[in-house]
Amino acid sequence: MEDFIRHLPKVELHLHIEGSLEPELMFKLAERNGISLPYANVEEARAAYHFHNLQSFLDIYYQGANVLITERDFFDLTWAYLMRCKADNVMHTEIFFDPQTHTERGIAFDTAINGIYHALRQGEKELGITSKLIMCFLRHLSEDAAFETLEQAKPHLHRLVGVGLDSSEVGHPPEKFARVFAEARALGLKAVAHAGEEGPASNIWDAMRLLHVNRIDHGVQCVQDPELVQELARTRMPLTVCPLSNTKLCVFDKMEDHNILSLLDEGLCVTVNSDDPAFFGGYMNDNFLALNTALSPSKEQLTQLSRNAIEAAFLNEDERKLLIQNLDDFWAKHGIH
Ligand code: ADE
Ligand code: ZN
Repeated sequence: MEDFIRHLPKVELHLHIEGSLEPELMFKLAERNGISLPYANVEEARAAYHFHNLQSFLDIYYQGANVLITERDFFDLTWAYLMRCKADNVMHTEIFFDPQTHTERGIAFDTAINGIYHALRQGEKELGITSKLIMCFLRHLSEDAAFETLEQAKPHLHRLVGVGLDSSEVGHPPEKFARVFAEARALGLKAVAHAGEEGPASNIWDAMRLLHVNRIDHGVQCVQDPELVQELARTRMPLTVCPLSNTKLCVFDKMEDHNILSLLDEGLCVTVNSDDPAFFGGYMNDNFLALNTALSPSKEQLTQLSRNAIEAAFLNEDERKLLIQNLDDFWAKHGIH
């Protein structure tokens, strides 16, 4: 089964590029930019990655991003992630970046997006990995700050597929962002939002009804509301689920408790993703392998998780067909027997 998982063609839809900053690269960039880190070495940084909830992680995650200064830094960060995609048979990825994490400390919006975007284009050319870029608003900041970020994004609209909403969910429900999401959608952007990660099922309803999202990021708290679960199944609203993230942030005590396979069996469009892999213990293969160890999914279930991600991706129908063909070819070779 491990071999099956490693070779399974995958699509990632929930990845914060700042969360793919491995301690090794963090130290390299800190040295390059003359920045001091609160850790003596890589091992000490890794040892600090123990979290009891989302906020305890976010504090360390935002601090790590301080080493990202130049366009080259953002390029190197993104390139390192794409190499992991290659190793894990990720065919297509839709990544998030948090511009406000950088503009708040005086790094220009353009610096961040240029570095990330150029690495994504090079990844397409040299690695054959297709990609899209989603800009997230930080929900602990104001509506005005989100509108300002959308203004800064306007010269780069052709480089963005959508907007998202991340950071501290509890105490920051979606409604504050209804107007800025409406403007983003009017500009032709897709919409996604973190909802029902730590926060209540009502945040998932609100993301759908007030932000008109095309996908929900996480969404695992939907089980609090059976009517919501039914609605998610009926509409095939995708949930970008992040198994290792959920156990590292204590959303579930252990992987055996994770609800992704029950939701899959109830007909929801759940997908597997790595969220912040440098902090949570692994990339796509690691997430699938962790599910395999704890929940013993069938080959059909594993393949359906990949099929769901293809269904949920922001692609045109020709691009989608190509990915489905890859998955069908894989299934014909490795599926049955
Ligand atoms: N930013 C980075 N990772 C996040 C997560 N899992 N939830 C909310 N905001 C985030
Ligand atoms: Zn996330």
